[in-house]
Amino acid sequence: MKHLLKLLDCSKEEIIDILNLADQLKYELKHGIEHRHLAGKTLGMIFQKASTRTRVSFETGIYQLGGYGLFLSANDLQIGRGEPVKDTARVLSRYVDGIMIRTFEQSEVETLAKYADIPVINGLTDFSHPCQVLADIMTVREYKGELEGLNMCYIGDGNNMANSLIVGCLKVGMRVSVACPKGYYPAESVLEFAAGFGDRFLLTQSCQEAVKDADVVFTDVWASMGQEDEAEKRRAAFTGYQVNTDLLSLAHPDCMVQHCLPAHRGEEITDEVFEAHADEIFDEAENRLHAQKAVMVTLMSN
Ligand code: CP
Ligand code: NVA
Repeated sequence: MKHLLKLLDCSKEEIIDILNLADQLKYELKHGIEHRHLAGKTLGMIFQKASTRTRVSFETGIYQLGGYGLFLSANDLQIGRGEPVKDTARVLSRYVDGIMIRTFEQSEVETLAKYADIPVINGLTDFSHPCQVLADIMTVREYKGELEGLNMCYIGDGNNMANSLIVGCLKVGMRVSVACPKGYYPAESVLEFAAGFGDRFLLTQSCQEAVKDADVVFTDVWASMGQEDEAEKRRAAFTGYQVNTDLLSLAHPDCMVQHCLPAHRGEEITDEVFEAHADEIFDEAENRLHAQKAVMVTLMSN
């Protein structure tokens, strides 16, 4: 594995290896066992969008591994003034040992990886959020013990989170049911991938149908970063696509709730449901740190 650009590129074995390493690194951190696998290595972190979790977990993670993270805001880089991504890739390859990038177009991340001599990690694009979904699957495995045969349900926008969850959860053996309003379906390439899984995948407009017997329910904001201008229109389109107590009563009695955060209470999730599942949701946020450390060790330790 050279880069982490999207989960469509990863095998089941690669995903499970990262999750196993993440569990080990989490154990070691909790027990004060040093793991300086990336001593002296540097990670450049390019942000074209806001971030709390991704920035802090990568920066802390590389430090705990003995390395150093450089926060590179696109506003301050020449990339923000039009320097081509392919030139940025070749320049950064001469200075740092890995690049994490959060941006808009998936093609920008792919171009960066094509021209860089060093590993590139996708820290969120409009198409995918692979680091988040590795942490999500790690959290589900922690709570449920195993992944094979679990029923995963996603409610809401067919966005970057939906795309990555569908691919990641199907790859590790889960059944996936997704409820989105018409016009807000996941990406075509993801639906083509999912079609290969037969009745292990369901796309419906009915939240009630999707949530039936779910072991874990995911949701995400109705307007992602960059879609702020459409927020009003989206609020109307997503009315009814809310994770609330009534909907969860149709799920498995031990159903978990996960949210990548930030959450908009009263829109995609009620405050009541959020707070009832807050431990699971903040464990999920914590696991960003451990999962991303596993990704960095896997890609950058040679
Ligand atoms: N979930 C997530 O990626 O959070 P941030 O936008 O705060 O990084
Ligand atoms: N779908 C959201 C995820 C944020 C972590 C967004 O792209 O803004």
